[in-house]
Amino acid sequence: MTYEIVFDSVTGNTKLLAEKIKECMENGECSYFGSPAEAPAQADMIFAGFWTDKGSCSESMRTFLEGLKDKDVFLFGTAGFGGMQEYFEQILGRVEAYIPESCTVKGTFMCQGRMQEGVKHRYEAMLEQNPADERIKAMLANFEKALPHPDSGDLQELEEGLKKL
Ligand SMILES: Cc1cc2nc3c(=O)[nH]c(=O)nc-3n(C[C@H](O)[C@H](O)[C@H](O)COP(=O)(O)O)c2cc1C
Repeated sequence: MTYEIVFDSVTGNTKLLAEKIKECMENGECSYFGSPAEAPAQADMIFAGFWTDKGSCSESMRTFLEGLKDKDVFLFGTAGFGGMQEYFEQILGRVEAYIPESCTVKGTFMCQGRMQEGVKHRYEAMLEQNPADERIKAMLANFEKALPHPDSGDLQELEEGLKKL
C-alpha cells in the first residue's frame, strides 16, 4: 500500500501528528509528506491533517480534500480549544463534508494544539477591559491548558487509532 501524509500546519502542532503517523505506519510506502498545495493525491491512502481555522480547515486543505477521488482517507487535526470530544466532532464533521462521496473516511483523530503567545496577550487585554468576565477567564485557562499539546498522551491515542486501520 502506498500512502501520502498531506498536512497543513502553521505552527507545528499538526506536523507533530503527521510525523507520528509516518513513524507508526511501518507497513506500506510513504510516497509524499508535505503540504496540500504540492500533494500528488495518487496513493491508495491519504492521511489528511489540518489545523482548525475558524471552526474548519484552511482553504488550501479544503481545496485538496474536494479534489480527492476514490481514496481511503484518515482525517486528523488540531484545535486550540479542546477537552470536549463533541467540539472536535463538530469540526471533523465540517471538514469531512468537503471529502467527495467516492472516498471512504477510514478514521479520524483530533487533539488540542497550543496557541501562539499573541492570543494570550489579546485575552489579557480583553480581561483588563472586563475584569469580571468569566468567558475571558475561561479562554485564558484554555490557553494554558493547550500549551503542552499535542502531548505524549495525544500521540499515544493517535497511535491506537492507527492500529484500527
Ligand atoms: C487564524 C486562526 C484561527 C483559529 N481558529 C480556531 C478555531 O476556530 N477553533 C480552535 O479551536 N482553534 C483555532 N485556532 C487555533 C489553532 O487551530 C491551533 O492552535 C492549532 O493547533 C494550530 O495548528 P498548527 O500548529 O499545526 O498550525 C486558530 C488559530 C489561528 C491562528
